Amino acid sequence: MTDVFPVSDEWAKRAYVDDAKYREMYERSVADPEGFWKEHGKRVDWIKPFTTVKNVSYAPGNVSIKWYEDGTLNVSANCIDRHLKDKADKVAIIWEGDEPTDDKKITYRELHEQVCRLANAMKANGVKKGDRVTIYLPMIPEAAYAMLACARIGAVHSVVFGGFSPDALAGRIEDAASTFVITADEGLRGGRKIPLKANTDKAIEKVGGVDKVLVVKRTGGNVGWKDGRDVWYHDAVSAASTDCPPEEISAEDPLFILYTSGSTGKPKGVLHTSGGYLVYASMTHQYVFDYKDGDIYWCTADVGWVTGHSYIVYGPLANGATTLMFEGVPNYPDAARFWKVCDKHQVNTFYTAPTAIRALMGAGEDLVKQTSRKSLRLLGSVGEPINPEAWLWYHRVVGDGRCPIVDTWWQTETGGIMITPLPGATPLKPGSASRPFFGIRPALVDADGKTLEGKAEGNLVILDSWPGQMRTVYGDHERFEQTYFSAYPNTYFTGDGCRRDEDGYYWITGRVDDVINVSGHRMGTAEVESALVAHPKVAEAAVVGYPHDLKGQGIYCYVTLNAGEEPTEALRKELRDWVRQEIGPIASPDLIQWAPGLPKTRSGKIMRRILRKIAENEFSNLGDTSTLADPGVVDDLIENRQNR
Ligand code: WTA
Repeated sequence: MTDVFPVSDEWAKRAYVDDAKYREMYERSVADPEGFWKEHGKRVDWIKPFTTVKNVSYAPGNVSIKWYEDGTLNVSANCIDRHLKDKADKVAIIWEGDEPTDDKKITYRELHEQVCRLANAMKANGVKKGDRVTIYLPMIPEAAYAMLACARIGAVHSVVFGGFSPDALAGRIEDAASTFVITADEGLRGGRKIPLKANTDKAIEKVGGVDKVLVVKRTGGNVGWKDGRDVWYHDAVSAASTDCPPEEISAEDPLFILYTSGSTGKPKGVLHTSGGYLVYASMTHQYVFDYKDGDIYWCTADVGWVTGHSYIVYGPLANGATTLMFEGVPNYPDAARFWKVCDKHQVNTFYTAPTAIRALMGAGEDLVKQTSRKSLRLLGSVGEPINPEAWLWYHRVVGDGRCPIVDTWWQTETGGIMITPLPGATPLKPGSASRPFFGIRPALVDADGKTLEGKAEGNLVILDSWPGQMRTVYGDHERFEQTYFSAYPNTYFTGDGCRRDEDGYYWITGRVDDVINVSGHRMGTAEVESALVAHPKVAEAAVVGYPHDLKGQGIYCYVTLNAGEEPTEALRKELRDWVRQEIGPIASPDLIQWAPGLPKTRSGKIMRRILRKIAENEFSNLGDTSTLADPGVVDDLIENRQNR
């Protein structure tokens, strides 16, 4: 029996939605999606109000998703200008720097000024509506300014995580055909410097096409400089006017592209548009975190990931919230940093990833107990399944048993939270994302596409559209249809496996495709493989995930060397460094096994099922191996397995 944590009286009273209200609103949202989303579409300020709500087809060969399509708005005006009337002096962003002594507060009035200046500076440097702007910044307020300035003038941002390598950055600049990049001299994380400008220079050298690079001075470190191309951010904005009227943007004009890993090929550019995305991000932020005016809200994600887009920047700011932005890491200067920041800024809502919780669990309870955390009211989790042990620790130790945990399941593709508890409505079961948000119709299907009813386990699909859904893969609509709408026609396929229990609660079991989730970061095994085979000594490589205590999943690589190459420890290290260089530190292989051969079928297809089992150290039942071209390969792999 799983423990169930009932909704406290305090929460049932405080929240927008209790259990009865949830059921009523949910029923209505799926019985009459048009009416429901028409009503909730009004939560954003439209320049020209919409008259149509939903225009969606999931039909094979003709997938088309449009919401509020004849409405116009400006996302940045919704996140800033509309709050100026009564909240100009309210803090919009609390910034906590890498060093605990470094912080600042930015009011809505200041945010308006900064975003207008930057938007004007971008225009002066040639950026126009529809242009793609690459943002490669650390977690500093300028990252939020840059996103909002793009939104203000109708440019499309593509934020690239500051931990990605020059090669990964280059690929994203190239795919988006981006001509304008915003970066910093260096980033600062956990006391270590990250050479963002130098990385940008290398990336641009590789792909070309970039006309201007706007550079924020963060550390003052030495950087290379190309006159005519590189512009200091502080010079550009100080010369710019603080008045920049927001562009009128169609609801279906793109807001941003965000690259994410899939099971095959290069990362794909997930495209989100303006109106529906903002409705969904702000609505989920309000209800899931039960956001009320005055709350101090902290999401620890990086703006390089979708969680940072929807729940540091767009959702909270659209709601006029105070959102905390943290530059550093959980264990610097020590492993009590998160809790110290909660005390320092009196944080009420704290939203993080299971991998951080597991790491901090390892640092022990004492560090947590040194801090008060009295301000905390609600905790959240995102990015990967949270194991019940971590959930219980988070609840008991961090939340002192007082704070509900919202375990929020969603994806880059979904734009916002899809399956989640609501703190005033949902009895909690540790490890379960629980029930669907309003308007979301999850279903489970088996391998043949048959819908499973009641208590069941299968692949998770979503039957109908919602306003925050991605619209296409940038520049490749066919890949969009192929990836999400071909396995099970007329539904959106998530790529996740899932179980539904007797109470209708959903339990995400993890990816069912060749995507692995390392510390909450999505990675395509194909990406790591292609990095490995690019090394001159590597003939072939196969990469799979395996259970990892801290990271959730670790990266296990089977590597076949070219004839004559010696499998040494030094080469192992070389390959690890190589992959870090090609993709970034988050893709660093955990285990590398030398494989004289890989298990293949007679037609040459690698049998990944077998490789996964061996990596999991579960090789007693390898299933049917009769189709292997050379069964002897498997014995060697088992003999020399690395995870024991
Ligand atoms: C996984 C992050 C279990 C899932 C917002 C999904 C989760 C992938 C949860 C998307 C959760 C995310 N419980 N699994 N609460 N949240 N996932 O695109 O496998 O970086 O498909 O979006 O993370 O990762 P992405």
